[in-house]
Amino acid sequence: MTRVAVVTGGTRGIGEAISLALKEQGCIVAANYAGNDEKARAFTDRTGIQAFRWDVADHDACLVGCAQIAETLGPIDIVINNAGITRDGVLAKMSFDDWNEVMRTNLGGCFNMAKATFGDMRARGWGRIVNIGSVNGQAGQYGQVNYAAAKSGIHGFTKALAQEGAKYGVTVNAIAPGYVDTDMVAAVPAAVLEKIVGKIPVGRLGQAAEIARGVGFLCSDHAAFITGSTLSINGGQHMY
Ligand code: CAA
Repeated sequence: MTRVAVVTGGTRGIGEAISLALKEQGCIVAANYAGNDEKARAFTDRTGIQAFRWDVADHDACLVGCAQIAETLGPIDIVINNAGITRDGVLAKMSFDDWNEVMRTNLGGCFNMAKATFGDMRARGWGRIVNIGSVNGQAGQYGQVNYAAAKSGIHGFTKALAQEGAKYGVTVNAIAPGYVDTDMVAAVPAAVLEKIVGKIPVGRLGQAAEIARGVGFLCSDHAAFITGSTLSINGGQHMY
């Protein structure tokens, strides 16, 4: 059966790899993006996957965007809450806007997307939500009180919503990536990044496709008994 999947932040980085993996698995994929039209057009040209622009931090925009996708491609079966931003800085230098933007996008986006799709998944008796957390939400990270709090919140959100979906065939899981070779990680100062990579037992950054394969599995019928779970894909950086 062909499933319709929405991947937020799905045209770049880990999101792009997830969009591709789900397409390869036979899904009809809609990739959401926030603002970079040029990169989104190039992504669609490259992959044939349709891109839809809205800000996941905007509650109403999520409702409208998902309704538009359902109308164009069919009812939404799978949501991957991948969209995320960083506004790193030590607490003393972090503004309220830095805090708020990260909370609204990274955590608020999960709530907004679930509100737009979860009820319909439950009514139709099948659904998959995969939320992209982070090793930094599990372990904390110097200079990231905003990001770590939002990502940690995602892990709680996942376990709570999983309980509301379980009886209805809707699973809700999280993936906690470690440091992956993307633009977001490339923005970390080189000297800081070198120290972080030095602490990864596997000895390298992850690849976006290595995260995407995990997402693909959690979205498959084989993973029907897995819900409320977090899969860590971090090269051994944090084990618990
Ligand atoms: N633990 C303890 N102390 C640390 C530290 C750490 N991990 N990192 C830095 N410090 C110390 C420094 O040694 C320095 O101390 P002194 O002043 O005594 O020399 C002090 O803190 C200030 O450090 P910086 O010069 O780095 O401070 P800054 O204000 O210029 O930058 C920062 C701070 C923006 C947080 C910068 O350190 C940074 O970017 N760190 C990386 C944050 C990070 O890992 N972000 C991940 C982004 S990718 C992502 O989030 C994806 C994912 O899910 C994994």
